[in-house]
Amino acid sequence: MDAHLMEFLSLLLRWLHVIAGIAWIGSSFYFIWLDNSLEAPPEGSAAKKKGVSGELWAVHGGGFYNPQKYAVAPASLPEKLHWFKWEAYTTWLSGTALLVVVYWLKAGTMMIDGSVANLSVAQAVGIGVASMVGSWFVYDGLCRSPLGKNDALLGAIVFCLIAALAWALGHTLGGRAAFIHVGTSIGTIMAANVFFVIIPGQKKMVDAMRAGQLPDPIYGKRGKQRSVHNNYFTLPVLFIMISNHYASTYSHPQAWAVLVLIMAAAVSIRHFFNRRHKGVIELQYPVLGAVLLGIVAWWTAPRIVPLPPVEGPVTFDRVRGIMGQRCTTCHAPSPTFAGITQPPAGVVLHTPDAIVANAQRIYQQVIVTRIMPLGNVTQITEQERAVIAAWVADGAKAK
Ligand code: HEC
Repeated sequence: MDAHLMEFLSLLLRWLHVIAGIAWIGSSFYFIWLDNSLEAPPEGSAAKKKGVSGELWAVHGGGFYNPQKYAVAPASLPEKLHWFKWEAYTTWLSGTALLVVVYWLKAGTMMIDGSVANLSVAQAVGIGVASMVGSWFVYDGLCRSPLGKNDALLGAIVFCLIAALAWALGHTLGGRAAFIHVGTSIGTIMAANVFFVIIPGQKKMVDAMRAGQLPDPIYGKRGKQRSVHNNYFTLPVLFIMISNHYASTYSHPQAWAVLVLIMAAAVSIRHFFNRRHKGVIELQYPVLGAVLLGIVAWWTAPRIVPLPPVEGPVTFDRVRGIMGQRCTTCHAPSPTFAGITQPPAGVVLHTPDAIVANAQRIYQQVIVTRIMPLGNVTQITEQERAVIAAWVADGAKAK
């Protein structure tokens, strides 16, 4: 029951997280598009006279819209001003809660991989927390340092540091957890940018206007820089959030480098769209993105680890015995493995029919990607993997 409640909690959190994330990233994409698409009003026009630096016309949902952006601020503050912040906060809060439920509370199976590093639960969770908090302080310090004035150099350094984080996590946590913590670190930077920089800066601008002063443009500039960073972070983070479905990426021997290539492709593709909004078509960026993704596709193609020759005859009984010993603690109608209440992915392996029906999936998980048994908690041997491989090659019959 406890485990079922946890599962249901994770369902609710994941649902909320996706909804809030769509609202946040959707509005972020919209504003970047808006900013990049604005055109300066003609000299002498009414808009120009009241301080509008750019405007555009759009049609959507049966109506016409005419957003205008002011160079620094309008002459007087409107009574009703819309803020965009709860999308970001809700995304981060629900995401972090989900991280706790899915990873930190189950660190033994979800974060620790003995073949990477022999960590204790406290160490694994500690690394997770430190990656998120540390990333923010390093990133924020860089932005505030003199480097913060050089956008291109700053961007390159931030990218290299994230690559270093991917490397470090890849050498301490299990593949999936390493990926997700790179994502939660970037996500933390994004939400903290909103909470600590963008919104406080906007508040200062509004306060200055209420006091009848012209707001200091530094707040707008600083906010804009962080907002642009967030824009480039979105595609990498979104990949990471779905990466746990793609074992070929996170279970690769050099998974961290696979992730770095995918992130570079994502940034390059995002850059193309940002430029295109301004009317500049630079095809080298999507081409670079496609080439990088092509390299990833090739590099992550399954390369079957050589198995030892099978000792003795390959019989179904042996396969069945292996399933019973290594798999059915999780893959049975009532799993006995702590924390697992339902057969994972709906796969049961407790009857001959079920084993035969799942032969190809078993082969995929045990021989090709080798992610099953999960974290090899049930300690399957290479000889046993060889028996399964030979049995499948033989036609996977229940004889
Ligand atoms: C500690 C529990 C555990 C053990 C032991 C275990 N599995 Fe799994 N298995 C899982 C979980 C969790 C998933 C779901 C993974 C996911 O959703 O990506 C899964 C998924 C699967 C899938 C479905 C993957 C797919 O998407 O097609 C297959 C097939 C599978 N396991 C086979 C096996 C075999 C064969 C063994 C034994 C050699 C085994 N598992 C041992 C936990 C376990």
